Amino acid sequence: MTEGLLRDLVAIPEEVHAGDFVLDLAVGIGAESTITEYVVTGQIAACFDQALGLIKSAVETSSSRAAYLDGSSGSGKSHFMAVLHAILRGDPEARGMKGLAEVVAKHDPWLRGRKFLLVPAHLPDSPSLDTAILSGYVAQVSKRHPGASLPAVYRHDELIADARALRGREGDEKFIAELPSGEEPLGAASDSASLDAAFGLPPGGKDQRRLIGGLLAGPFHRYERTVRAEAESFMTLDEGLSVISRHAREVLGYDAVVLMLDELALWLSAYDGHPDKVREEAQKVSKLGEPAVYGRSAPIISFVPRRRDPRDLAGQDTAVATSVFDLLKYWDARFSSIQLDDRNLPAIVRERLLKPKDADAAIALDAAFEQAAGVSARLWETLLDGPGDPGDWDAFRLTYPFSPAFLHAMVDIAGALQRERTALTLLQQLLVDSRDTLRAGQLMPFGAIFDVLAVGADQPFTDQLREEFEQAKRFYTSQVRPYLLTKHGAGGQQDAPPAHTRFRADDLIVKTLLLAALVPDVPALRGLTASRVAALNHGSIDTMLPGQEPAAVTRTLKELGASFTEIRLSGLEDDPRVGLALIDVDTEEILRDARHADDDETRRRVIKDLLWEELGLADQGAHVTAIKVIWRGTGRRVEVVLEHVRDKERLPQEEFVPGEAGAIRVVMDYPVDPGSCPADALNRVRGLRDELSGQATLVWFAHHLSQERLTDLSHLVVVDYVLAGDRLADVAPNLTADDRCYVRAQFESQRDILRVRLREALRRAYGVDRVAESDLGSLAEEQVLAFEPGLELRVLLGQPLTGALQRLSFQLLDHLYPGHPDFDPNVQGQELKVTELDTVVRAVEAAARDKAGRYQVPRADLAILNKVASPLKLGVMHEGAFVLGHEWPQLIERKAGSTPEASVRQLRDWISEEQPGLPGPVRDLVVVCYAIQTDQAWVRAGQQIKTPHLADLADDMVLRGGGNGAVKPARPGRVFSRRIPAGEVAAVVEEICNAADVNRGAEFEILWRVVAR
Ligand SMILES: Nc1ncnc2c1ncn2[C@@H]1O[C@H](COP(=O)(O)OP(=O)(O)O)[C@@H](O)[C@H]1O
Ligand SMILES: [Mg+2]
Repeated sequence: MTEGLLRDLVAIPEEVHAGDFVLDLAVGIGAESTITEYVVTGQIAACFDQALGLIKSAVETSSSRAAYLDGSSGSGKSHFMAVLHAILRGDPEARGMKGLAEVVAKHDPWLRGRKFLLVPAHLPDSPSLDTAILSGYVAQVSKRHPGASLPAVYRHDELIADARALRGREGDEKFIAELPSGEEPLGAASDSASLDAAFGLPPGGKDQRRLIGGLLAGPFHRYERTVRAEAESFMTLDEGLSVISRHAREVLGYDAVVLMLDELALWLSAYDGHPDKVREEAQKVSKLGEPAVYGRSAPIISFVPRRRDPRDLAGQDTAVATSVFDLLKYWDARFSSIQLDDRNLPAIVRERLLKPKDADAAIALDAAFEQAAGVSARLWETLLDGPGDPGDWDAFRLTYPFSPAFLHAMVDIAGALQRERTALTLLQQLLVDSRDTLRAGQLMPFGAIFDVLAVGADQPFTDQLREEFEQAKRFYTSQVRPYLLTKHGAGGQQDAPPAHTRFRADDLIVKTLLLAALVPDVPALRGLTASRVAALNHGSIDTMLPGQEPAAVTRTLKELGASFTEIRLSGLEDDPRVGLALIDVDTEEILRDARHADDDETRRRVIKDLLWEELGLADQGAHVTAIKVIWRGTGRRVEVVLEHVRDKERLPQEEFVPGEAGAIRVVMDYPVDPGSCPADALNRVRGLRDELSGQATLVWFAHHLSQERLTDLSHLVVVDYVLAGDRLADVAPNLTADDRCYVRAQFESQRDILRVRLREALRRAYGVDRVAESDLGSLAEEQVLAFEPGLELRVLLGQPLTGALQRLSFQLLDHLYPGHPDFDPNVQGQELKVTELDTVVRAVEAAARDKAGRYQVPRADLAILNKVASPLKLGVMHEGAFVLGHEWPQLIERKAGSTPEASVRQLRDWISEEQPGLPGPVRDLVVVCYAIQTDQAWVRAGQQIKTPHLADLADDMVLRGGGNGAVKPARPGRVFSRRIPAGEVAAVVEEICNAADVNRGAEFEILWRVVAR
């Protein structure tokens, strides 16, 4: 376990200066540190090889070459050129650098003895590219070769006029003496005639340019600087390039000119609003890549650094004005590309920022990394920015406390959001800022990047990004930060103590979202989810239990999402995707204007909708929502009513009674009831207990929602209102179609979050989830009461509300009908089917024909008889055979006593007395089976009828015969020796009549008697 702070192991300064970790080419060229601090990786060495190769080919073929130096901002483009400069000028330190010596040795044969004129052109001060290049050349020449004649690259009408006057005043001899000597045509051949020729030529002519060069090096040398800085002083770039090429070779004897054009993109981006200027200048860049052949002159090799297009990271509409980057890209074919890879960064970071203080510190730093790296594999993926390979692990070791994902993102973010400061500057700033807090073994939290961005005076790369960045900062400072301070009890304080870990955790979450909004295409931030936010800030989100960070982040995100439309969640409940969209529309104002939509009635409706969703009920708009539950294989009607239980007007006493026979009723109290508390509801129900005793009703009390959830509810009502139909267009008519779309998406996301949160609170209110203070206000003393005496009901924790409703209904039914047969012993939730009952009837018929009342059941019907006939006590199953039982006949005969016949109505009553709660068709099954088993005839209105189908039984039908002798059995008949059961006689007679086409008059009566005899 590593104790102590990171700064004990690594030297961390107390402050960072603005220009730290940005290399200014002009300064870097001379500085000793350029070489001493340089880190050469294999990739960097390869870049040098490529650059030298390019120069070699230019020299050998005497043709110009140009290369883009491609790399992220801060990837070392300027530093690379400074080192290249040193190598070309033969600096022994540079040539002998570790990792570079081999490359230099390889190129030495052709480098040796060659002279390069190195021209770092300083763009930022120049009005145009030509000025920068040509004046850069002039500056180099006058610095390196004082007194030598300068190339004639100026426009110079006035100058010639002045010179003419000077010649007139001084006379030719003196005038010529002031010009640099030894050069033609003003040197060896200089006399009055050649002066006449030079002055006489049309402006811009070759000899005149030479004269001017001479003048500026001689009598007019004081003007050299002023003339140089003016764009118009120069000739066109292609002319100028050939002039300097010739000059370098012919006048100064160089083998090649190497142009280093630093900060081209940055310079051009200053002309963001002037596309013509940008296009014009970019056009000039192409000249550098043109394959001009200079014959005997010195070839020009140009290096043009090019940073990545920030739009790649900011996910911006690329249709917005053509940018510098598109234009530079356009010349790709003419330029070589030397790519400085971001993979060099870990080594550079280690060397420049994180060098251990000594050998012990190095060991401790390694231990700190191991400690920080002891995280789950899933987290690793995020920290490594992908599946990762061993190389990433090593890189991580080098850059601890910065993860690879962190570094990667930092490079991208610095590139898009900072003009001047590089990733190294920002990393250093982070180290400095957390100098007193970052422990060895801890990781730098991702969200902290926002802090260093927001604090510096640096500006984003493009105007559009600047606007968004400002918006993000505003949103943070004026909305989220005050909210978080209040939430964590630090309201009113402007500065939450940094040690306030809860605040800090939430703060980092928000900042991670803000970064994702600004640069959504940075890989670590793409498709951000709660668990990724947690991983990126690993170690800074305090939880009681390890591994709970994603849950903690999800919680915070849900809260934030409910309060800020800008923050949107979607997808999985436990690991939602999250995004933050900043638009310049005051959504709060829209909601404020729609506040009137919030009233008690609407709130009740919204609660009902949410609760019904949780209960799995469909609201048909009626006061009572009836559903069917399957209990012991039988369908039962459950009537659910949601109402203020305490309120006698809204819920009169009769509402507590089931509306249909056999139904049960569940009265649910509202969890929202201004000015009352759950105890009022309980008192009313207690008062009704005697009067309603025995009613198949239960009352489900609710804990009341907390003030916060009521605020959510009110918010939801308003958001719902705004989202309905086309209302958004009415309430915010001034929005553009695009903005309206955004706003709609924001509101929708907020609605979803609010709904999820309220549903969770409702689950707590009705007792299936644990009570949480944040969700609930005053609590109900009882959760459920029944009017049925002796029945105590409980709601189980941890089940869904649908399950709880069903379970309560079952408990009530169990209590009401304790001995009810179970037609669904495996609890599959299937209701008995009519066809199954028919199967039973057929089996009973078959068994009744058997002397022993036994029937071998076909396999297909076995399950049905097992399920229905046995529990209903119609008979028993014996090794695949159904054997008729006698319980029901005996019971009925006992009830019937000496009555000769029994009506269906009586039978139904007797059965229900014996077995309360049987559904109608099942009860009628008993009637029919009894009739079959005891061989009774069916009579209605004095006429014998066919055995009716189960579904057709009616109260006024009568069974005649059978029983204990008092009820006369219809005697079985016999037709052609076939015994006909009494119940079938009527059917057989009819069959015979039909077959014989007998007129059913008196003959029918006779036949009937015959058959029945
Ligand atoms: N290979 C390297 N070794 C040491 N430091 C480097 C290296 N490459 C870049 N740096 C440092 O990184 C910072 C940014 O480099 P710079 O050349 O300014 O980047 P760019 O021009 O690409 O934006 C500078 O402080 C520079 O010294
Ligand atoms: Mg640079």
